[in-house]
Amino acid sequence: MTGFFWQYNEMKQVGADYSTLSEVEVYDEQMAKLRDIKQETENIINLLNIGSGDTVAEFGTGTGEFASAVAQRCKKVIAIDVSANMLEYAKQKSNKKGIHNIDFNQGGFLTYQHSGELVDVVITQLALHHLPDFWKMIALKRIFNMLKEDGTLYIRDTVYSFDMNNYQHFFNRWISETLISAGKELARDVETAVREEFSTCDWIMEGLLKHAGFKIHKVEYDQGFLAQYVCKKDQGDM
Ligand SMILES: C[S@@+](CC[C@H](N)C(=O)[O-])C[C@H]1O[C@@H](n2cnc3c(N)ncnc32)[C@H](O)[C@@H]1O
Repeated sequence: MTGFFWQYNEMKQVGADYSTLSEVEVYDEQMAKLRDIKQETENIINLLNIGSGDTVAEFGTGTGEFASAVAQRCKKVIAIDVSANMLEYAKQKSNKKGIHNIDFNQGGFLTYQHSGELVDVVITQLALHHLPDFWKMIALKRIFNMLKEDGTLYIRDTVYSFDMNNYQHFFNRWISETLISAGKELARDVETAVREEFSTCDWIMEGLLKHAGFKIHKVEYDQGFLAQYVCKKDQGDM
């Protein structure tokens, strides 16, 4: 039966909206100040043991920092993002660096249609929380289906692992600390993210991953709001 419009519209951004190139530039500058992206990228490449024969797909590629770095260490990168502006910015960045093995795709966790060979690694950073929980599970199932047997999924995202009895205290402290360390604009972004985006709880996220068929090989929770997961499609050891 067709004609029912129940599919979640992931193309409509929730929370921060990168609808202009200047917003994308601001995001890139903020991240460059806040994060040691080079080191983060290096850590992920080493952790996942990404090599020259691997195909890596990245969902929510953003300004393309990770995509450009990993492209120099693997066979091919499939960079996926719902934002045309983010993709354009990422494309310009990789062209300037003379990198030509990135395939840029406008789409998302729920709409990207994979064709061709299955991929070795799927990675996503700070993007999955844009989907409500049910749709996260659908996204994870879709990722499972595009991975090779023994393929790896790496997720780094905002996931809540703090004491939920004291959530008001936690959110207020997080925002006031961000205000002191990173300024008003970023503190506002945290407020917006808590209010309008869909960061979930640690136990829900682990359940969603297992339900989608993944085996969780490594999990780390940091500061009560950040998490990383290394998951495998198969049931063997890493
Ligand atoms: C906070 S940024 C993170 C960008 C980059 N991964 C990083 O670590 O800096 C979130 C990105 O996810 C993208 N995004 C939002 N919803 C998405 C979806 N459903 N599927 C794929 N990408 C999505 C946004 O356009 C944005 O580029």
